[in-house]
Amino acid sequence: MKKVLFIASEGLPFVKSGGLADVVGSLPKALEAQGSKVAVVLPMYKSIIEKYPDAKKIKDIQVQSGIIDKTTGIYEIDVDKVPFYFIRQDDYFYRDGLYGYPDDGERFAFYCKAVLDMLPHISFKPDILHSNDWHTGMIPIMCKQEYTDKDYHKYKHVYTIHNLLFQGYFPKEIMRCFNLSDKYYKNGDIQFDDGVSFMKAGILYADKVTTVSQQYAKEIVTSEYGERMEGVLASRQADLLGIVNGIDIEDWNPETDPHIYKNFSSTKPNNKKECKKSLQYQLGLRVADDVLLIGIVSRLTWQKGMNLILDKLGTIMNQDVQLVILGTGENYIENELKKIEHVYPHRAVFYCGYNEELSHKVYAGCDLLLMPSLFEPCGISQLIAMRYGTLPLVRETGGLKDTVRPYNEFDGSGEGFSFRYFNSDEMIYIIAYAINVYYYNKKAWRKLVKQAMTKDVSWNVSANKYQELYESL
Ligand code: ADP
Ligand code: GLC
Repeated sequence: MKKVLFIASEGLPFVKSGGLADVVGSLPKALEAQGSKVAVVLPMYKSIIEKYPDAKKIKDIQVQSGIIDKTTGIYEIDVDKVPFYFIRQDDYFYRDGLYGYPDDGERFAFYCKAVLDMLPHISFKPDILHSNDWHTGMIPIMCKQEYTDKDYHKYKHVYTIHNLLFQGYFPKEIMRCFNLSDKYYKNGDIQFDDGVSFMKAGILYADKVTTVSQQYAKEIVTSEYGERMEGVLASRQADLLGIVNGIDIEDWNPETDPHIYKNFSSTKPNNKKECKKSLQYQLGLRVADDVLLIGIVSRLTWQKGMNLILDKLGTIMNQDVQLVILGTGENYIENELKKIEHVYPHRAVFYCGYNEELSHKVYAGCDLLLMPSLFEPCGISQLIAMRYGTLPLVRETGGLKDTVRPYNEFDGSGEGFSFRYFNSDEMIYIIAYAINVYYYNKKAWRKLVKQAMTKDVSWNVSANKYQELYESL
């Protein structure tokens, strides 16, 4: 079986800003359980250095990335049989945040070089380098073109797009951070407009390109969703496939979850109500187990359809519901949401921030999770919500379309609700419909909850697909 090194910019249990970290923390573990040999490499951010002072140091190496030359540490921490390697370069990664710095291009160009230079020094000997998102997009071209050592030409490359919106686009001067001939800029392989696109390089130089749902794989070759990369993607159509994400069903298990007030399961769902009341109490909402509690756990951006929510907040709150929003993101959305507690006291609450523990409580305590995304490569929140019997109400796009079957009132099938067009009237129509089912068709609702909780949201099927892909290379 092929040995795979996952290369990413974030991953649980070490560091997370979004769903990429969920995937990097759970897919390698699932592959390992199916018999593969997998390792992961991440940048060693400040928070990791502080939290893991005993991380094993493998050695220091000298990394030269274009005009930059720095001594860099390689560290290792093993998690559930999966070795996690770390690239420690404090000038670049000893910072409070992960991304959003003016030198991000230089930081991740360096990271890619350091990862490749690390390979001879670690005991794990991969056959496949599996890179993820723009941060690691340059790995395949660097590996194929910057190294003369034949060992580097044996690696096969898989590149996964988790979000096409973020393409790692930098001014042409970023070329100084690579040991790459100018010809790769001039021939257009890495050039995009007047600069360099790390993601374009990943798409063109990987042996296989994947994204995180079948629907998104279809969408990104169109101009509506392609973020101007649709032509490049279409040129790789034969090697492009969608594999839907799963979640770690041990970490996200309402039967054993230590973060929630009381545990419950699809066969013993009653304690879900206790979780709801405890959440209401904790957040200062009126405690009542019979009112529909709507939740949102999300980055607060337009990608997530937050403008639809803001547009219809009044209409939503005019109905007999409560609302809890957990998230951080764009200032104007945060500022709008900060008002809701005053406008709807004891009925609506906004927790502004990132809070892992509270997210468990929200998934467990709510009845409905709103996710009206403009686009959604896969989405992890709706998978978690279903596992906790919270019905997702989603827009039919990307992974949301692939993973949530809408309620069909004729045969009772489904595990959530959905609407098609990105428009707040459509959304509110479906929200009203869901509210109606909740209050007036309790039997149907209970059935949907059961169907959601018993749906397979694990990695089992998808890990197999990755394995087939690796073996095909
Ligand atoms: P994206 O990666 O685009 O943000 P996903 O749905 O794939 O969206 O993944 C989001 C992940 O981040 C989920 O695990 C979700 O529970 C978590 N998350 C998002 N916002 C918060 C928050 N404010 N606090 C805690 N967890 C959050
Ligand atoms: C990105 C996408 C999200 C996906 C996650 C993990 O953050 O926005 O839809 O679930 O990556 O693949």
